[in-house]
Amino acid sequence: MIRRIHHVGIVVSRLAEAYEFYRRALRLPLVREAEVPDQGVRAALLSAGDSEIELLEPTSPESGVAKFLDKRGEGLHHVCFEVADVGAALRDFAARRIELIDAAPRAGLAGQIGFLHPRACAGILVELATPAAGAHAPESWLRLKRLVIGVPDPQPTAQLFQRLFDLTELATNGGPRVMLAVGRGALLIVPTAEVGGATGMVALSLVATDFPALTAALDGAGTRLLKGTGEVTVDPASSHGVHLHISRYE
Ligand code: CO
Repeated sequence: MIRRIHHVGIVVSRLAEAYEFYRRALRLPLVREAEVPDQGVRAALLSAGDSEIELLEPTSPESGVAKFLDKRGEGLHHVCFEVADVGAALRDFAARRIELIDAAPRAGLAGQIGFLHPRACAGILVELATPAAGAHAPESWLRLKRLVIGVPDPQPTAQLFQRLFDLTELATNGGPRVMLAVGRGALLIVPTAEVGGATGMVALSLVATDFPALTAALDGAGTRLLKGTGEVTVDPASSHGVHLHISRYE
């Protein structure tokens, strides 16, 4: 039913400032930018391999995104899964008595969209989208690999996501982590203790096709980085509140 992670939504104070990092330093190609009045946001989709990154700037102080920004600051806000028919998916969830924000699809930046209630998804805000026929994102030198979710106990949360979205578990090196495949991407569910006590969506992992050029681009842009072997971690102060791990390897 779920084809892929369509995008991961990030709330930012100002789109123009977020572009400095996401478009100029990270060089993610713009797919489209538009005002979405019923969500009270100006939003942009950037290409990141098989998935996209959505930046959301509030345009109305009453919007959910403005309230999120006031309370939590900039950072990861929601994950969107692509489905073939969002209307049918929402009807199916309603029939299973899964709590929804949208009973019927509405127009969003990603196509026809609808949100599940975070209470139904272990506190994670999940969007479903069916892109317009022929929608196409430009190639990117970065590919979104994983969304990391922190929860007190990964097993029951993983089982909930498997039940809701029919996701397959991928092998990990044992331990308390659970990885679920979503197209070529994955959700990595880890205990909060492993991520400094953080809960909810806590980090993104990306793969770079040209890692040396990427680190040079980030250095050139003055991005604050922690460098490891074959991996860099961007300081959330540079990436608008998002823990971003970028690696050389799949
Ligand atoms: Co979205």
